[in-house]
Formats: sequence, C-alpha cells, structure tokens
Amino acid sequence: MSLLIDDIGELFTDGPPLAGAAVVVDGGRIAWIGPADHAPAADRRLDAAGAAVLPGFVDSHAHLVFAGDRAGEFAARMAGRPYTGGGIRTTVAATRAASDADLRGTAGRLVAEAGRQGTTTIEIKSGYGLTIADEARSLRIAGEFTPETTFLGAHVVPAGADADDYVALVGGPMLDAARPYARWIDVFCDRGAFDGDQARAILTAGAKAGLGLRLHANQLAPGPGVRIAVELGAASADHCTHLTDGDVDALAGGGTVATLLPGAEFSTRSSYPDARRLLDAGVTVALATDCNPGSSYTSSMAFCIALAVREMRMTPAEAVRAATAGGARALRRDDIGRIEVGARADLIVLDAPSHVHLAYRPGVPLVRTVLHNGVPQ
Ligand code: NIG
Ligand code: FE
Repeated sequence: MSLLIDDIGELFTDGPPLAGAAVVVDGGRIAWIGPADHAPAADRRLDAAGAAVLPGFVDSHAHLVFAGDRAGEFAARMAGRPYTGGGIRTTVAATRAASDADLRGTAGRLVAEAGRQGTTTIEIKSGYGLTIADEARSLRIAGEFTPETTFLGAHVVPAGADADDYVALVGGPMLDAARPYARWIDVFCDRGAFDGDQARAILTAGAKAGLGLRLHANQLAPGPGVRIAVELGAASADHCTHLTDGDVDALAGGGTVATLLPGAEFSTRSSYPDARRLLDAGVTVALATDCNPGSSYTSSMAFCIALAVREMRMTPAEAVRAATAGGARALRRDDIGRIEVGARADLIVLDAPSHVHLAYRPGVPLVRTVLHNGVPQ
C-alpha cells in the first residue's frame, strides 16, 4: 500500500529545506521525493496542509528500565543540592525489587510517550540492575521495545561491592549473560563512577564479545573518557560537557559522534556543553534525551532541540539534524534519520510550517502525526 504525502510546507532533507515537495512511501520505505506537481499516483494520500515534514527523531541515549522516581532528589537539587550520580543506587534498589511486569510497564509507557512526541527510534540502556540476573532481565525487557539495547552494568559500583571485583564481574560473567540481549556496551566513565582504566577494560571485553561501544564521558568533570572512546572506535561519546581542546581535536579526527544531552544539564542545573565549539571543529553532533529518573526525566526530543538552540548556540537546523541524522550516526544506522529515497519511512508532520518552530515554540506539543515504517501511528 503506497502513500502520497503532499501539501508539505517544508520538507526537511539533508540539503536546505524544500518547499513544494511531495513524498511517496511504499513498503515502509521512502520511494519517491520530488515536486508535488510531478508526484506519481499512490493508493492513499496524506494532506500535510502546509506543515513541515521531518525525519522521526532518533533518541540514541535513554535509560528506561527502572522503577520508582526521584522527584524528591530533583526538588532538593533545585533548592541547591549538587548532582553527584549517587542517586543511581536509589533507583537500583527500587529496580531490583520490581517485578518484570512493573519494569515492562514503565519502559512501555515511556517508549509510547516518546513516540507520541515524534521519536521513531530509541536506544535503551540497562544499568539499574547491577547483578547478573538484573542486568540480563533489564536488557531482555529493553529488547521488547527496541533493537538498540545497551549493556550498562558499569553504571556505578553497587553498594557494598569492591570496585575491582565489580569491574571483573561486569567484563566477565555479567557480560556473558547480557550479550545475547545487547547490541552495545557502555560505561559511566566519570568522577564517582569508573575511571579510565576500568572503562577501557570493560569496553575492550565488550568489543571482544562482539558488542558496539559507547561511553558516558566527561559529564561531571574533565577526564579521559572522550579520548578512550575515540581511541577504541566507539560509536558515540555521550554528554561531552567538560572538554579540553585535545578532546575536541580527538573527536574531530576520529569516527566517534559527540552526543549531547542538554536535558541532564537542565535537570542538574549545570553548564551546558559547548555545541558550537564541536560543530565549528567539524565534529558530528547528536542530541538525545538521556531519559532517566535521576538526571533527566524527559522523553521530549523537541525540548532538547529547544535547549540546544537557546543554550548551546546550535541553529534550529543543526539541532534538528543532530536529533535525527546525528542520532542515526551515533547508532551507526544509515536507514533512519534522513528523508531520502530508500530510507525507512519514519516521518513526523508538525503542527507548524517549519522546523524552526520546534525551538521557537518551546513546550508546545507540535508533533501532529508520526509515521513509523510508513504507517501513521
Ligand atoms: O546519563 N551519568 C550517568 N547516568 C545517567 C544518570 C542516571 C541517574 O542519575 O540515575 C546519566 O545522566
Ligand atoms: Fe545517560
């Protein structure tokens, strides 16, 4: 069944946004793009009524398998308490105590919430289980919602564990148990979490087991994370809030995407990463939500785009690109994140005539229609 989308106010493609264009979708893929008055016949028609059509958002960083929330911790932060990452252990205790059905319910609710706001691909990490059984179960549940599953056993050292023993566990038996359910492996390499040597050991074990690499790097303090990510050929270094010139040069010279997560800076009242510096150096930048109950409890890519434009000096087009094609690069996917012939027909129709409105009208639910694999949701 083919579908013609026409009367598009602005089509957000790789080049400058197109006016007067139409799109034909067939078999879940984009089959044709061209001037509306040359559009081929299709079985059905979707009238965009002058609205902007964009690629669906690719949220390449989210932690959705957890129980409970930390609203109290957020309120305390807003009253002046700093974020340390220590609250992760609170969520670990709640997650371990939760049933599969509870975890599945929360993850499913958040995936649906993100979907309604235009996210058509989402990555989901484990990291709130931190035992062999709880990490494997978190990944199994994550895999019910996305193929982009990430093993984050190295989120923090769990209460009562010895750090060296725990690193050996994560890179050994826990990795073996996680591997069947994971596409990626990640480490929180930062102050109060894992150091460079520990991150390198765990990522190297993950690569040997066939997993792709990503890294939480340089969120809370400067450190070796970004350079390790580039050196090991990670798909993405995430957060990138505290970077030296050497880190920026390494990212610019390597194949690792810098994934920026401004929801975390918003919710921890921290300084935002300098996106302009990265873009000007030629680094590929992605934007993602980091959706989690501690540092960034938002599922809204539009909110992250608005923050990136207002606080990180990205243009609206750069921010939308980072939230779509950038996220796809961070997941090493070439079938999503772009409106081009052959790509998956994951598209959003805005309640607005241009992509600029996503930042210009912050907080307004502007996603009118979401097409996933060419099917309106
Ligand atoms: O990406 N930085 C580490 N992990 C999460 C925070 C998780 C939490 O506070 O529960 C993050 O911000
Ligand atoms: Fe994160």
